[in-house]
Amino acid sequence: MRGLLFTIFFIVLLPFFLFGIALYTWRIRRICVPQNISGTANEPFGGRLAMHIAGSRSDETTYKIANYLPSYGGVVRFLLIDTMRLACRVSGYKGSMLSYPGPRPSTLATMMSHRSYFFDESIKEVLTRKENPATQFVVLGAGYDTRCYDLPEDLDIKCFEVDMPPTLNTKKKALEAAGVPHDHVTFVETDFNQETWMEALLDSGFNPNLTTYILWEGVTMYLIEEAVRDTFNLIASLPVGSAVGADFFSHDLIVGNPPYEKFSKAMHGGIKYYSENLQFGIPTGETLSSGLEEFLKESGLTLTRFEHVGTTEDKRPPWYFFSHIEKQ
Ligand SMILES: C[S@@+](CC[C@H](N)C(=O)[O-])C[C@H]1O[C@@H](n2cnc3c(N)ncnc32)[C@H](O)[C@@H]1O
Repeated sequence: MRGLLFTIFFIVLLPFFLFGIALYTWRIRRICVPQNISGTANEPFGGRLAMHIAGSRSDETTYKIANYLPSYGGVVRFLLIDTMRLACRVSGYKGSMLSYPGPRPSTLATMMSHRSYFFDESIKEVLTRKENPATQFVVLGAGYDTRCYDLPEDLDIKCFEVDMPPTLNTKKKALEAAGVPHDHVTFVETDFNQETWMEALLDSGFNPNLTTYILWEGVTMYLIEEAVRDTFNLIASLPVGSAVGADFFSHDLIVGNPPYEKFSKAMHGGIKYYSENLQFGIPTGETLSSGLEEFLKESGLTLTRFEHVGTTEDKRPPWYFFSHIEKQ
């Protein structure tokens, strides 16, 4: 019944929504891309925003800053977000795509809620455990992630957000305009493909002797393999108990091996729209996770949790993986 009500409201509001989508995509190409502000950062942000407005996953900061981002701000927030929010509120619908933690196995439509839940849990575990909790939190390729602004109040954690300057500056401006306190966060500008982020972090006050949690969500697929390897080797130099949450596409998807030929083309095409490139995927092993374990051997890090979108019974086997990796 709720789903039906939502559909009816949504159909009534569809012209607003479609106009919002058109304006949003125009802004990505005409405002974000020319200024090198990450376009792909808007996708996971949009997923978390949708869960927030549906009332399934609270993320007030995401909602607040949306109004001040070049992609979602002003009239787009009204057309895209506030219309959907109205449809959700009136109907009470939170199903499928908007649910959290979402169904398992997850699908292409529900992978964002699966991904958000996986990393929410991974962060919570390492920051709040009784023994050797992390006291530093680093978000690599932070984009518009808001985890640093939603930490439990009793935690005394130093936060760092690392990204390329145009995206970081856009986010800082949005946080300021939305009145979101951010003094506890140090913003660190770097390019993972050009230089080691650790040097940039150290220059910004990062202490390599403290147990650290590193969130590396939605980033590895945009990097060259060397940058991914270097990053794991650097994380391996942190104290025991440090951990990283990272997601990966499969190598087969990236290069378009069967049965991913068409899907791979569509993914590359979609990302090209943002003038960004998909570059790295892990060669999956027989158990899927064994490919990542093999990849981690060089750094000596340990894979402690591994989940994937889809099931191994699908015609198209899993191609997207979430991992929790520790220095033991
Ligand atoms: C898909 S977004 C993910 C953002 C965020 N982690 C999230 O899940 O919402 C990828 C982010 O990685 C950043 N990024 C991609 N390549 C990078 C590089 N070579 N150096 C630094 N940041 C990079 C982009 O600027 C963008 O903010």
